[in-house]
Amino acid sequence: MANTIPDISLNDGNTIPQFGFGVFQIEPKDTVEAVSKALEVGYRHIDTAQMYGNEAEVGEAIRTSGIDRGEVFVTSKLNNSFHRPDDARKAFESTLAALKFDYLDLFLIHWPLPTLYDGDFVSTWKVLEELQRDGRVRSIGVSNFQVPHLERLAAEADVVPAVNQIEAHPYFGNEEVRAYDKAHTIATEAWSPIAQGKVLDDPTIVDIAQQVGRTPAQVTLRWHVQRGDIVFPKSTTPKRIEENFHIFDFELDDAAMDRINNLDKGEAGRQGPNPDTFDYLPS
Ligand SMILES: NC(=O)c1ccc[n+]([C@@H]2O[C@H](COP(=O)([O-])OP(=O)(O)OC[C@H]3O[C@@H](n4cnc5c(N)ncnc54)[C@H](OP(=O)(O)O)[C@@H]3O)[C@@H](O)[C@H]2O)c1
Repeated sequence: MANTIPDISLNDGNTIPQFGFGVFQIEPKDTVEAVSKALEVGYRHIDTAQMYGNEAEVGEAIRTSGIDRGEVFVTSKLNNSFHRPDDARKAFESTLAALKFDYLDLFLIHWPLPTLYDGDFVSTWKVLEELQRDGRVRSIGVSNFQVPHLERLAAEADVVPAVNQIEAHPYFGNEEVRAYDKAHTIATEAWSPIAQGKVLDDPTIVDIAQQVGRTPAQVTLRWHVQRGDIVFPKSTTPKRIEENFHIFDFELDDAAMDRINNLDKGEAGRQGPNPDTFDYLPS
């Protein structure tokens, strides 16, 4: 079985590689090396954000790789400090300037911040609609949006987000949001897909890994892919960057999928902040 990464069709007619490389918590000084390694291994989708502080290094790694810009799908996200429309426009320009690109493949509102900005993420979203109309970004989406946030966009905005990037892993299936996304043509992206390593010692996952002759990380990432979600694990370890990439040449059977589905702890399994209350603003 060849290790071929599928493309997922988005509701705006564009496509996105189902698998990519995340760069959250990669220090700027380590980012060029990590992204260069990922590109060399075959990753063609990079997920960054202005708040990660490493957009410039992501851009540098892509530009020096010799790979055409058009062959790499690049996502970035709006900084929480810049939700007001004029600030959002400027923040998007800063993102493109840092990357040294003339367009972005996907731009997301990083967090809904419903307790800030008078709870108004709709006017922020309308700026993303405008950027897409101007052709500066090909697809637009959201991150960490809960069902009521998505319902509000559906009622008050013109464009349905192409993706919703949310926390999801075996301990936190995030099923309610995934079901809403699916019913409304929104592709789900699963962040912290291996729960930053916390699921890798789970006895069920270790047992399945032994049965199929793969590593716990590969089994967990494969589970996401078979659920239909988009994933981009982070690693600065070259061996793991390679390991994580090789998940398209085996399959989990229904019994293994069910065993991992049953690890879901619901809300108790959430590792990151709750989007309903998260109000972090970088200074
Ligand atoms: N939208 C959001 O709010 C949001 C929030 C969080 C994350 N994200 C996105 O999702 C991406 C992935 O999530 P994440 O970075 O939080 O966590 P993750 O990918 O679930 O896990 C990364 C951690 O697991 C380790 N690891 C990676 N591969 C491994 C392997 N094969 N075996 C053992 N350990 C392994 C890494 O260590 P080493 O690096 O030391 O190898 C790192 O500590 C981020 O980089 C970011 O792009 C988005």
